[in-house]
Amino acid sequence: MTEKISFRNVVKTFPMKGADFTALDGVSLDIADREFVTVVGPSGCGKSTLLNMAAGLDEPTSGEVLVDGGTVTGPGPERGVIFQQYALFPWLTVRQNVEFGLRLAGLAADERRERSDHAIELVGLTDFADALPKTLSGGMKQRCAIARAYAVNPRVLLMDEPFGALDALTRVQLQDQLLDTWSRDKRTVMFITHDVDEAVYLASRVVVMAARPGRIHRVVDVALPYPRTEEIRLSPEFGRIRNEVWHSVYHQGAAPAAA
Ligand SMILES: Nc1ncnc2c1ncn2[C@@H]1O[C@H](COP(=O)(O)OP(=O)(O)OP(=O)(O)O)[C@@H](O)[C@H]1O
Ligand SMILES: [Mg+2]
Repeated sequence: MTEKISFRNVVKTFPMKGADFTALDGVSLDIADREFVTVVGPSGCGKSTLLNMAAGLDEPTSGEVLVDGGTVTGPGPERGVIFQQYALFPWLTVRQNVEFGLRLAGLAADERRERSDHAIELVGLTDFADALPKTLSGGMKQRCAIARAYAVNPRVLLMDEPFGALDALTRVQLQDQLLDTWSRDKRTVMFITHDVDEAVYLASRVVVMAARPGRIHRVVDVALPYPRTEEIRLSPEFGRIRNEVWHSVYHQGAAPAAA
């Protein structure tokens, strides 16, 4: 399998008074082309820092981050990023926000409209296409940010707790839509979440990180077939994997639960 994203012995320190703070201490991870990987771990273990480096918004103190075999030197249109804190332009409407990247890419008005219509419909905001962000709920703002990333149709999606602010029903709907899009036109996804069920439901591998210093604790294979369905979500095997990941996240240092 070809590697799409590679972290090679990535160390990230932040200057602090006294000693430097080590946010990531030697993280190595390969994400294959068209793979769906989720990342879980305690707050502050460096998940966002890792994702931001793949996005080209931050760089390692030592080690390397590669996308398509080349060192990441900055953001690029082939990598769509959804931030932990939804970042919308407050003076633009939902549609204008969604079309922002398309405008930058130089797409013609009718093509922009077609893409934004589709992306806005996918996240259920059609009736709010002309609304300004300040008139939307937190979950709706987040759905707008998701539509903006989808509209550009990037080969790599870097998603930092994208569904965290959403209600349970919308969350499940967007999980299924994301999987549907991914399976139809496979792209590479790195997806951070706090939700162990979500991590297992979406991924073919779950990366469990540990804190202080931030590092990879375990990688759990999710040997469940796609498409993922309600039946799979309720299956004993799903429950077993979820428990394994749960244990790895919340009982770090202890031996993994027997399978
Ligand atoms: N710019 C910065 N300057 C100093 N320290 C930072 C900076 N950015 C992150 N950190 C520290 O690095 C560590 C990792 O932060 P990061 O945001 O990557 O964690 P996270 O795993 O995404 O946490 P959460 O689950 O809460 O989002 C934290 O201890 C944080 O305080
Ligand atoms: Mg984070």
